[in-house]
Amino acid sequence: MTEQGNRKSSNHWKSSLGFVAAAAGSAVGLGNIWKFPYIAGQNGGGTFVLFYLLCIAIFGIPIMIAEVMLGRTTQSSPLRAFQRLSTRNYGWQFVGLLGIFAGILILSYYSIVAGWGLHYLFLSLVGGFPQDNNPQAYTDLFDSLVQSARLNIWWHSVFMAITTCVVLRGIRGGIERFANWGMLALFILLGMLAIYASTLSGFVPAVKFLFAFSENFTWTSALEALGHAFFSLSLGIGVMLTYGSYLQRHDDVVGTSIAIAIADTVVAIGACLVLFPIAFSVGLEPSAGPGLIFINIPLALLQLPFGRIGLLVFFLLLLLAALTSAISLLEMAVAFLIDSLSWSRSVAGFTMAIFIYLLGIPSAISGGTGFFGAGLKQSLGMTWFEGADYLASNWLLPLGGIGISLFVGWQLNSHQRLNEFSNNSRIGSLAWLYSSWLLIIRWLSPIVITIIMLHNLGVF
Ligand code: TRP
Repeated sequence: MTEQGNRKSSNHWKSSLGFVAAAAGSAVGLGNIWKFPYIAGQNGGGTFVLFYLLCIAIFGIPIMIAEVMLGRTTQSSPLRAFQRLSTRNYGWQFVGLLGIFAGILILSYYSIVAGWGLHYLFLSLVGGFPQDNNPQAYTDLFDSLVQSARLNIWWHSVFMAITTCVVLRGIRGGIERFANWGMLALFILLGMLAIYASTLSGFVPAVKFLFAFSENFTWTSALEALGHAFFSLSLGIGVMLTYGSYLQRHDDVVGTSIAIAIADTVVAIGACLVLFPIAFSVGLEPSAGPGLIFINIPLALLQLPFGRIGLLVFFLLLLLAALTSAISLLEMAVAFLIDSLSWSRSVAGFTMAIFIYLLGIPSAISGGTGFFGAGLKQSLGMTWFEGADYLASNWLLPLGGIGISLFVGWQLNSHQRLNEFSNNSRIGSLAWLYSSWLLIIRWLSPIVITIIMLHNLGVF
């Protein structure tokens, strides 16, 4: 039951390198540059990093293969992909719908954090940072940004506008072209920062921190590492499925998935190798939490030689990473409208962008004292922004991951599965690799992800 050939060539990537760039662009995002360094710092470094790498290899790559495979084989957006392969069983479509909902929700608050990055890029350009090295001044600067509805809404608008422009230009002319140049620039900027960081006095202690065994590693750290591996690889909600649906018949699913995971991991570790030496060089700890890149890094960099340029390069890097991820989230939701309602790309793009923009407003004002901020925090314990992140990262992503794993593992026709796996792949011809992969997506990953969710529920 092949479903190929129902798409025009303009609805495919020009080259498989373009696919790898776009998918790696989706994976590499705020998760790598903002979140990974601070959770690695909070969980004590070395052991956490090692465990994270194992999670990527054992769960991340196999589920990535499953997701890309599902997209390529159906040549459809998430909801249609499930509809096509499960004619008698409507429950599966729920997995597709859930993913689309999760993508929309994630982008609505992702854009707010990206907006903070834009504001800091702006401050680096105009030199708007406090003049003295007073940590409190930097904390106040960040707090006042988070609390300001006006600034958050403004940068949210700017970020969503750029993202929408790229998606409206289509797969080849917009997403692929932006990803090719953007990822090239991103790796060059990261390389420059890494060379700079290696000259600092904090470099050796930072490397030790990152790779030496640590004692802070707990059961909760393990779960956090696994959850973050999914988020970082953009898995579980159909983003990789959508990008995989633009692959051609002759592209190699296994090889490209491994390449994407490697690129994502290199950037996550690279970001630590840039940020930790900077923090250590002025005697700051890397365990600062979410404020690490917005408080400690500007504070530290501006005390170091060439700090202002370094800061500019860093926030440019953050912006590029956030944009290519946001583009993938918007594209998934837009592809759903195009595919399900046969809308044109421009109508679907505008409608979806405006919807997500509006949904982001409550997150934008979550730092304030109004209903969505302090109000909800008082009644439910979380602001709207925190609630959206909690719902998406802790529930929707893992649920989607289980759904996709089980669907590809049990529902996909076994001929089709084997074909897709070994198609044009030198790696895929190894039978043991195929059987381990199948074992993981059929059993191991659904069981382990269920354990994480039960833990989140407080069952143990
Ligand atoms: N992976 C991106 C990051 O690390 C975020 C992201 C983009 C994402 N698309 C996604 C996360 C889909 C989950 C699902 O920042």
